[in-house]
Amino acid sequence: MVGGDEFELETEKLATERIAPPQSFVEQANVTPTQLERFSEEGVDAWEMAGDLLTWDQPYRTVFDEDDGDWFPDGRLNATANCLDRHLDSRKNQRALVWEGQLGETRTETYLELSRKVNAFAAGLRDLGVEAGDVVTLHMPVIPELPVAMLACARIGAVHAVVYAGFSGEALATRMAESDSSYLVVSDGYYRRGDAVSLTNRAETVRAGLDQKVTTVVVDRLGEHHEYSLGDNDYQYRRLLDEHRGETVEPVSRRATDELFLIYTSGTTGEPKRVTHTTGGYLAHTAWTSHAVLDIEPGDTYLCTADLGWITGHSYIVYGPLALGTTVLLREGEADQPPKTKLWELVEKHAVDILYTSPTAIRTFMKWGAEYPDKYDLSSLRLLGTVGEPINPEAWRWLYEQIGDEQCPVVDTWWQTETGGHLITTIPGVDGMKPGSAGPPLPGVEATVVDETGTEVEETTGGYLAIETPWPGMPRELSEETRWAETSDVLPNSEWAYMTGDGAVVDDEYITILGRVDDVINVSGRRYGTMELESIMIGVDGIAEAAVVSGYDDHDQGIYAFANPDSDSADEPALRVRINREIEREIGPFARPDRIVFTPELPKTSSGKIMRRLLTDIAHGNELGDTSALRNPEVVGEIESATQSD
Ligand code: WT7
Repeated sequence: MVGGDEFELETEKLATERIAPPQSFVEQANVTPTQLERFSEEGVDAWEMAGDLLTWDQPYRTVFDEDDGDWFPDGRLNATANCLDRHLDSRKNQRALVWEGQLGETRTETYLELSRKVNAFAAGLRDLGVEAGDVVTLHMPVIPELPVAMLACARIGAVHAVVYAGFSGEALATRMAESDSSYLVVSDGYYRRGDAVSLTNRAETVRAGLDQKVTTVVVDRLGEHHEYSLGDNDYQYRRLLDEHRGETVEPVSRRATDELFLIYTSGTTGEPKRVTHTTGGYLAHTAWTSHAVLDIEPGDTYLCTADLGWITGHSYIVYGPLALGTTVLLREGEADQPPKTKLWELVEKHAVDILYTSPTAIRTFMKWGAEYPDKYDLSSLRLLGTVGEPINPEAWRWLYEQIGDEQCPVVDTWWQTETGGHLITTIPGVDGMKPGSAGPPLPGVEATVVDETGTEVEETTGGYLAIETPWPGMPRELSEETRWAETSDVLPNSEWAYMTGDGAVVDDEYITILGRVDDVINVSGRRYGTMELESIMIGVDGIAEAAVVSGYDDHDQGIYAFANPDSDSADEPALRVRINREIEREIGPFARPDRIVFTPELPKTSSGKIMRRLLTDIAHGNELGDTSALRNPEVVGEIESATQSD
């Protein structure tokens, strides 16, 4: 357990005045203060506003059942019918998806075209034996086939589990084993910065690693760049689609509490953490926040730079925006991938109204300079949003001024894989903005900052961020009895509280996020389990102990790994290669540490626990705090010099 000095408070963040949203935006905003008053007047029943954005097969009578922790428990609906079918009368020829591929290709799918493909693929999946409740694993880059597959699963009540394409075959197999999934839809590969990366060995790794028989559908992404042969239980996506062209599949009516999808994230244990999102509550939450926070309207063109493999892609590329019937621009590749003009070119070309991206990408754009966005007409933009990590006030201002020309509100949206959708953010036409601070909890949500005993701390004092009220997008795991309580060191004081794992500070009702304070690290908006990485490292022959923290290198965030070899004469370069290879094999290349520092010992407290905080300070280049509690204070100097010389 960490003490109060865990929380680094930067007073600059707390001192800022609120910036009023631009009047032109306020006048057209999707929600007004009056509408939001319902949350204070009606309590939990006001979430009906979110439920009302959806089309129900069987309307719910109860908004939230406190006993079971269920949202809209007696309602029935189908997510795909909400994202596609109900838009066909009014906008069948409007573009649902516009895809910009890595090789410069563009493809568009109107709502009608997308709906036809989803129907055909749903029929194909059924033909392969997929039934409601089965878990179908999807493993692809950002290509239109991925949303098609997600929506096809949802149509027949199957539960999709998207595994980010950068994960290794091993990681894919672990996740499929955990979810008992016997269906895999995988692309033959993907392009990463122009280079073809094959994924066809994935199916073999999965087969070798799993007890269950796996049926695989292969999507062709690499074309003639990559030949592969189909095995006994393998099917070609294209052929399956052709065989079922023109078929329609009735959307399966699901209970609001039925699973819509699973997603794995990094938790505090060595294992991937499974998060299960529901059909009704999740969809209502993502539709509502897409409407109220991202201000999405049907006629908009909306661009979110996340990968579909992470929760942001699920909630704010597929489900929320399509539920509202907007045009979604999909970009294959990272937001801050060269050419340096690419993103701005896309904004101009498609007259993008709303841009939702990450602070990391913004910092890269800043470093590249304003001359790149300045070449383009960005005046179509109406709202800018960020997600994934705290945004520093400097980057916030750059976004607001350089990209938005002070005409677009910026929403700094705090949420997590577990929360399904936004929980802390300003409402763009209602609240003033404070650069660096996410804002107040959403109307209908209560958040608090507590100390290690679970007692609320005073404003401007750092502590642990807890959510005190249930929200519609909460995962099944929180409705169930365990509520992940075992993973939290801090005891929540109230009857119902979800400990987020983040540190935070409140000032004048606005919440500033200070970053993860559990065994999870967030590096450039990506989440890693320190235990997961450490246990892989310890598994490498020649490594006795390991500790992983996040750090800064020339202002770039990175994963810092500290390793203690089991002999004094260790071959460090060889160990480094083995550590990297093992992490690549078990997780994927993206999880490779940016720095591996070898030290004769790791700093330990008198009770023998590794003092990670000290390593974090070293990795951040911070002044070191009190080291007197260490059992082996003499190692500090050695680690510092090893870090510098590495
Ligand atoms: C962690 C969740 C939310 C989808 C993408 C990441 C950090 C997220 C913010 C923000 C400060 C943020 C937190 C959180 N985080 N948004 N606006 N300001 N920190 O989802 O991978 O589940 O990570 O990302 O540390 O706990 P995730």
